[in-house]
Amino acid sequence: MTTAGIDAVEIRTGNLKLDLAETFAPVKDEDPAKYTKGLGLHASSFPDAYEDIVTMGANAAKRLMDRKGLTPEDIGRIDVATESAFDHSKPVSTYIAGCLEDVFEDDFHHANKGERKFACLAGTQAIDDAVNWVTSGKNRGRAALVIATDTALYERGDSGEATQGAGAVAMLIDEDPDLTVVEPLQGFGSADETDFLKPNQQFPSVDGKRSMQVYLARMREALRDLEEQRDLHPDDFAVVPFHIPFPGMVRKGAALGYRHISRGTDVEDALAEEIGPQPRPDDFEDDEAFRDALSEYTDDLTETDRYQEWYDLTVEPTLGISRYVGNWYTGSVHLARAAALRDARENGRDLDEQQMLVCSYGSGAQAEVHIETVQPGWEEEIAQLNVEEQLRERYDLSFTEYEQIHDVHNYDESTDIDAFTTPEEEFVFDGWGRMGERKYTYVE
Ligand code: CAA
Repeated sequence: MTTAGIDAVEIRTGNLKLDLAETFAPVKDEDPAKYTKGLGLHASSFPDAYEDIVTMGANAAKRLMDRKGLTPEDIGRIDVATESAFDHSKPVSTYIAGCLEDVFEDDFHHANKGERKFACLAGTQAIDDAVNWVTSGKNRGRAALVIATDTALYERGDSGEATQGAGAVAMLIDEDPDLTVVEPLQGFGSADETDFLKPNQQFPSVDGKRSMQVYLARMREALRDLEEQRDLHPDDFAVVPFHIPFPGMVRKGAALGYRHISRGTDVEDALAEEIGPQPRPDDFEDDEAFRDALSEYTDDLTETDRYQEWYDLTVEPTLGISRYVGNWYTGSVHLARAAALRDARENGRDLDEQQMLVCSYGSGAQAEVHIETVQPGWEEEIAQLNVEEQLRERYDLSFTEYEQIHDVHNYDESTDIDAFTTPEEEFVFDGWGRMGERKYTYVE
């Protein structure tokens, strides 16, 4: 059977940065440690006045195509995953294809384009679709471009304001991929939830605390669904990337995941000497007592050396980019994968043929866990990323400048300011056309 997966990846951050400890916390009169330690975030990325989901997506896709030596003829499908779309009809993928056609000789008229929506999960769903398309043979030898792009902005003063971010991750999905093979095994946890939504509005309505519970509940269901297909053991996976709304959420998700997949294994037995066996519902009179015991066990678990070693090796490296850019919604779990591979390369860790358990989540709500196998070409491919350089070159906003740029991107405001940075060799937003469409140009 044909194997398919992620052949290449590119990351494009917004060109601006808000330092949470230095700039945001003092104005909010909060302890900087709430952001750096509690949420686990140091900075957020923001789009400059000339950037949006199209420019960031197109810039990521162009760099990917340039360095892989691809032309539009090589691409048969372009899917964009976003929860920041500005058009209810015309998909963002058409805007991005239009941008790319301005700089490549051929066009994408032959390519099937679409837009995927399920909150932050949509990027993973678009990969699923593309992998199925490739393995079915409908691709006729062509590859798919999956682009996860978002400006994750919250209303000013919302509790989510500290977790904002903006950026795009472009991925090439192809046969015999260099980075990871996406295995057919996947588990789902899905329920009609109203934890985070945008009913015809730009900024989300969020029940922050509840959204965290829903994240964990759906993740648990997805793990159960996967377990019905194969046994899971913590040592099976070299890397476990999660959706990262903020790193503190992943700390909670990882503890739940580890507890869940170590239940009934030699790991639970070994830990029992230190912290006792895992609580089982039948041992308790009511659900509340069971939940309290489970929560206490989880706290004890995260203090053990065994858990901490596992976390430091398989989860902590996935957070290395997100801590400096915030939430990229659809792109976040894909940033996590890239961050872990980048860290492994820098630390000489051999990941050839090792497995990843990729844990994606979208509010509304659905979790998907699936398995990927790292391919021998991963190191060479991941070495091509220039994300450090991009992060270093971001313009560092003052709080007043942050307020201005938030207004620039707020549909209800008509703020016009000079950009903070000067675009160079990139696509930029260039005003509106006669039917209200957004227009773009490439700046040399
Ligand atoms: N030093 C160290 N830690 C500190 C601290 C300090 N001085 N002050 C606070 N903290 C800790 C808190 O204890 C807390 O950690 P725990 O949860 O482990 O106890 C953490 O910092 C955050 O503090 P608060 O809970 O007080 O923060 P908050 O109430 O202001 O906001 C939030 C937290 C509700 C998650 C908010 O950021 C939010 O609404 N975010 C948007 C929604 C979101 O991201 N939900 C996540 C799941 S939904 C999802 O995944 C989809 C998506 O992408 C949006």
